[in-house]
Amino acid sequence: MSADSSAVRRRMELLPITAVYQASAERSAALELVIGGCRVQALAEQFGTPLYCFDAATLDAAANQYRAALSRWYPAASAVTYAGKAYLSRAIVRWAQRHDLWLDCTGAGEIGIAVAGGAPRERILVHGVNKSDEDLDAAVMYAGVIVVDNLMELQRLALRLRSAQNRPSLWLRLRPGVAVDTHVYRQTGQEDSKFGMSPQEVLQAAHFCQEHGLPLNGLHFHQGSQFRDPAPIGLALHVALDLAAELSASGWQMEALSPGGGWGVAYHEDELPHPEIETYVRFVSQAVVEGCRQRNLPLPSLHLEPGRSLMARAGVAVYRVGAVKQTALRRWLFIDGGMADNPRPALYRARYSALPVTNPERPCIGPAWIAGPYCESGDVLIEALPMPDLAVGELLVVPMSGAYHLAMQSNYNGARRPAVIWLERGEAILIQRRETLVDLLARDVDL
Ligand code: LLP
Repeated sequence: MSADSSAVRRRMELLPITAVYQASAERSAALELVIGGCRVQALAEQFGTPLYCFDAATLDAAANQYRAALSRWYPAASAVTYAGKAYLSRAIVRWAQRHDLWLDCTGAGEIGIAVAGGAPRERILVHGVNKSDEDLDAAVMYAGVIVVDNLMELQRLALRLRSAQNRPSLWLRLRPGVAVDTHVYRQTGQEDSKFGMSPQEVLQAAHFCQEHGLPLNGLHFHQGSQFRDPAPIGLALHVALDLAAELSASGWQMEALSPGGGWGVAYHEDELPHPEIETYVRFVSQAVVEGCRQRNLPLPSLHLEPGRSLMARAGVAVYRVGAVKQTALRRWLFIDGGMADNPRPALYRARYSALPVTNPERPCIGPAWIAGPYCESGDVLIEALPMPDLAVGELLVVPMSGAYHLAMQSNYNGARRPAVIWLERGEAILIQRRETLVDLLARDVDL
């Protein structure tokens, strides 16, 4: 837990706005942080803290990079599916429509948000490792594609599809036996993962679909999340394309193929540059084209399923310093949010950066441990970050906060979930209001 002294030195002069901040982040003439054309100080005064801000320009840029790279590298049909588990609300569903993105929804809750946000059936895709009856009913009612996780689910779906008015297409989720290089909690493609079917089970499931006249038209796999090295996707593609070739011999044609999502981002300056979206799309596209050529398969429609690489950089969290404390080994800066709105450091030891919102020219006086207000020693958002002498009441921003924070937040210690705003061309729009005590009590029964 010791500070890197060269990092302290690097930040002595002027704390930099680096590429972990949103594309639109800048300093005003008064050296105040501005995002999406809005002064962060003014946003905090208007909406309170903790506050989550999404920058439309950064979201648009990421979506455009995916589309441009696919049209450059993949010569057949393709689509980008936003993995809603990274963060979903009606405003995000509307944004996804602007870019013709499909939506990956896990279960009836996310399906309900997608429908409320106006997503059309043909762009709703449903995932889930143990879909409940409610999940399956919602999927059959509202989705264009259901990704089947296991053979028992397939049997339950077959019963529903017999009498259903809508018949979503089915894709089978393969467990390729190869995971990507990431934190073990985020690996999903390995042989003993809880997700998906073995190659043998995929063959069984495909034959079941053929026998029962089910609308099977795709294969899917997802090997894990927050990775930089795409090589394991090549290995998994071999397994998937071998299956497609074997099934084509029995008359089935794979129309759609999805190698999932998971492409990583840089959370901290030490991890920059961000992995290039183009590198990922190019690797996958070339591997699919080559793999199909070798097996004499027609090119399927290619579906990428990113969450984090679309959303993370667009979000910034704004906190207020409530107290400063010096203990034997460190300087603590206490802020008004932490593990309730961002459990990632506690769960995965994720590392973040931060900046004060005003007067960045002050020299850093040494490392600070930035901690939240919750009753848990693991509630430390950032360890050993070089920081100036911050006063009580000052604002701090934590960049790269757009993915898997709000989606995994909790009411621990009675925390009320923060307000969320949308920044576009100098305008700030409230897209989720702050929770209140009334919300906390809304499900509560008084005996
Ligand atoms: N497709 C499937 C089937 C997935 O399970 C996931 C993520 C994605 C796509 C999108 O992955 P992404 O592009 O966002 O990496 N809570 C963890 C991440 C869990 C990811 C779960 N599945 C974190 O905060 O790092």
